[in-house]
This record gives sequence, structure tokens and C-alpha cells, in this order.
Amino acid sequence: MAARKLVLAVCVVLVAAFFPGCDGRGSGAPTSACTSMSPGHLNNGTAVTEQSSASPYSIVVGDKYTPGRTLSVQIVGPVFKGFLLQARRPGMTSPVGTFSSPPTDTKAIECTAADSSMTHANTNPKQNITLTWTAPSTGVGNVQFVATVAEEKVTYWMNIQSRQVRQASGAIFAQPTFYVIILCLLQSAYVMAK
Ligand SMILES: *[C@@H]1O[C@H](CO)[C@@H](O)[C@H](O)[C@H]1NC(C)=O
Ligand SMILES: *[C@@H]1O[C@H](CO)[C@@H](O)[C@H](O)[C@H]1NC(C)=O
Repeated sequence: MAARKLVLAVCVVLVAAFFPGCDGRGSGAPTSACTSMSPGHLNNGTAVTEQSSASPYSIVVGDKYTPGRTLSVQIVGPVFKGFLLQARRPGMTSPVGTFSSPPTDTKAIECTAADSSMTHANTNPKQNITLTWTAPSTGVGNVQFVATVAEEKVTYWMNIQSRQVRQASGAIFAQPTFYVIILCLLQSAYVMAK
């Protein structure tokens, strides 16, 4: 397991080192950034590194979601130009759920699945935008929103995390297991009644 993680880490580093970054990203994060969430910005041919200071941005979200239902997610902080936001299971790198109704100057993009991530559509100034996330129809347990936010091309913060959002207990109705259990109970009742 540890060896696999090491191999993966080495791959990510190699890809990051050799993937030619493009100078701009004005029209949104490319899908090559889906996992690393690194903008890969270049300034005069030199890779721009993330800010090491505490992020002035935070991701504000409720503490529960219901499978198949929407949830509002807000990026709060100073005016910014670019971003990439996903919902992930804690510690995982692939997005879950989908986004809809993109606010002005933003768009949904395909990472693992269509509309699974949100990014900027242009470099117009944006502030406190609210995004609409739809949870997967079958619960996936806790999720956490993770973002990279670029105030400017050369000034960006990575790995901005929301609180962990719990799956609401009402979600049992959205679980196929629930209906399987109900069917089993009905069948047992039928067998016992015979
Ligand atoms: C980038 O290159 C331009 C033109 O050569 C120069 O004026 C500018 O200072 C450089 N910027 C940085 C951050 O090195
Ligand atoms: C964005 O949110 C911050 C923090 O709540 C607030 O200070 C600021 O006035 C808001 N700006 C806009 C344009 O809503």
C-alpha cells in the first residue's frame, strides 16, 4: 500500500515537472489540473508557486447534505479571478457529485464525470460566489469541498478546505440497500404468514 502511494506520488511529481504549463488559464482550469488542482501558471517561463500564507478565502457550506439533493457552496473572501472547486471524500482526489446553474463568469467542467468541478469562465473579477452542488444519488458518506483560488495569476492558494459535510440520515431512503432490506422483510413476513 505504502509502495503504491509512493509510486503514485512519484508519478504526480513527474507529470507536474514535465507537463508544459501554459501561460494564462484565462478560460478556466484545464482537465490536467483535476487531481493536483494546481493551476500550473507560468510567469516569464518560471512556474509560479502557491502562496504559503493562510488563505484569505474560505469555503462556506452547511454541515449536512442529502443524497440527490442540491447544496449551496460559497467561496468567501477578497475579489479573485480564477478558481477550481470540487467536492471530495476526505483524503480522496476524485470529485463526487455535480454542479449546476453556474453563476456569471464561471462554468462546470468534466473531471471524472461531466460537471463534477467548477472553474472560472474568464478572468473577470469575482467575489463571494455561490455554487450549486448536487450530491450523488447514493450517499457517499462525508464530503469536503476543496478549492484552489487565484486572486491573480501569480497569487494563488491551494487546498482550501471546507468543513466536512455529513450525509443526512434521511438519506437512507436514497440507498438501494434500504429497498433491498424492505423487500427481504416483506418476503420474510410473507413466508412466515404462509
Ligand atoms: C518578466 O519579463 C518582463 C520582460 O522581460 C520583465 O519586465 C519583468 O520584470 C519580468 N517579470 C518577472 C516577475 O520576472
Ligand atoms: C464578501 O464577504 C465578505 C465576508 O463576509 C464581506 O466582508 C464582503 O463585503 C462581501 N462582499 C460582497 C461583494 O458581497
